[in-house]
Amino acid sequence: MNSAEIRKRWLDFFESGNRQGLNHAVVPSASLILNDPNLLLVNAGMVPFKPYFLGELPPPYPRATSVQKCVRTLDIDEVGKTTRHASFFQMCGNFSFGDYFKEGAISLAWELLTRSQSDGGFGFDPARLWVTVYLDDDEAADIWHKQVGVPKDRIQRRGMADNFWSMGVPGPCGPCSEIYFDRGPEYGRDGGPVADEDRYLEIWNLVFMQNLRGDGPGKEGYPILGELPAKNIDTGLGLERTAALLQGVDNIYEIDTTSIILRKASELTGVAYGLEEKSDVSLRVIADHARTAAMLIGDGVTPGNEGRGYVLRRMMRRVVRNMRILGSAEPTLVELIKSSIEAMSPQYPELRSDRERIEAVTANEEGTFLETLRSGTNIFDLAAESMKKSGAKVLPATDLFMLHDTYGFPFDLTLEMATEKGLAVDEAGFRQLMREQKERAKADAKAKKSGHTDLSEYRKILESGKSSEFIGYQSTSGEASILAIVSDGQSVQG
Ligand code: GLY
Repeated sequence: MNSAEIRKRWLDFFESGNRQGLNHAVVPSASLILNDPNLLLVNAGMVPFKPYFLGELPPPYPRATSVQKCVRTLDIDEVGKTTRHASFFQMCGNFSFGDYFKEGAISLAWELLTRSQSDGGFGFDPARLWVTVYLDDDEAADIWHKQVGVPKDRIQRRGMADNFWSMGVPGPCGPCSEIYFDRGPEYGRDGGPVADEDRYLEIWNLVFMQNLRGDGPGKEGYPILGELPAKNIDTGLGLERTAALLQGVDNIYEIDTTSIILRKASELTGVAYGLEEKSDVSLRVIADHARTAAMLIGDGVTPGNEGRGYVLRRMMRRVVRNMRILGSAEPTLVELIKSSIEAMSPQYPELRSDRERIEAVTANEEGTFLETLRSGTNIFDLAAESMKKSGAKVLPATDLFMLHDTYGFPFDLTLEMATEKGLAVDEAGFRQLMREQKERAKADAKAKKSGHTDLSEYRKILESGKSSEFIGYQSTSGEASILAIVSDGQSVQG
């Protein structure tokens, strides 16, 4: 079943196709850069609905469903290495704003997952589904066992880190119940999701959104400030994970949409997929990040050194780096972005109409980065070579600083390259040099400022009858003679 079909079945089921008669309003995906002061990028399907959960706005409908574009970069280092981490994904969600609660959410999920494919469902074998509930959530455990019929030994209990969901920042939260598919013993150990999350793949998370969380660590140990005005439902089914299972492929990088980009990367580098783990990881990172970059640029993010711009820049640079690791030093990012547009535009047609802008942003960023890489990589290689000769194992802070400060080489990239070469880096020394440089820049700015604000020399020049005329609005060139020279606030002889 292709991704577009999964999406369609999802929306049809919740709009009017379920047997419980719970019709949901179909809401289009919001932009990835929805304005939320706590979030850089939309990271869950529920984000656009947050004001309804918090009671800040009256919900325009009691129930809703969507397939939301999401970006999560917390686990970026896992991308490509596991079968299930992606920086961009689409989250299929159904939401109840004070309408149905645990019983409704659980039975809807079970119906869609296990209904046969010929009858509009996803056709999962019920005997291979496992569920987890929050530690003391007997109510959810009972619904799974007594009403749905899941055997007790396939219902597991987990703590806050796994079965209490929040956006990772203050906002709505609640205990959750997750549904896993057992991919079989060839994928890992027996024992259910608590034993092995690669074998037991989480596909759907049902959040019983009833609390408000305060500030604190991302996953557990944060304070619960109280109850929300109503008991709500927020669920998230990973479209890509579901596609991997329904398409019979091993991981989310090989599904219909992502594999188009992966194949392009393989064609451009001449490195076949499936030969060797190390190059496979690179190909998966390329496919994942190129797609994320295309989606971010599509939604108006431009590469930069801060915030969302930095997330995008980092993705693009990791693609370029991995292409180089696979032997391609030529500019290829635009080609990969073109493939990403091809892969995603059936679901997001605006990518096609915005193609020129997306490609131009890409070409510009790649050009700048390739230049930086050329000079930075040479310097890095020389430093690594001389360490090899001297038998040193730690890349000195001065080299790290020079790469960063003189050549604009991103520090995370230096770290990655050092790891690849089995070298350690003097990160503490580097941070110290960065601090010192900041201090110097501050002192410099102060000195410059005072030099500029001491205008007495300029005043003297004007008072001596010399004056200058600005002709920049009429012309871009002209004859001029130097009337005086001021250095460090003092008049000097020319
Ligand atoms: N909001 C549910 C999830 O992201 O898992």
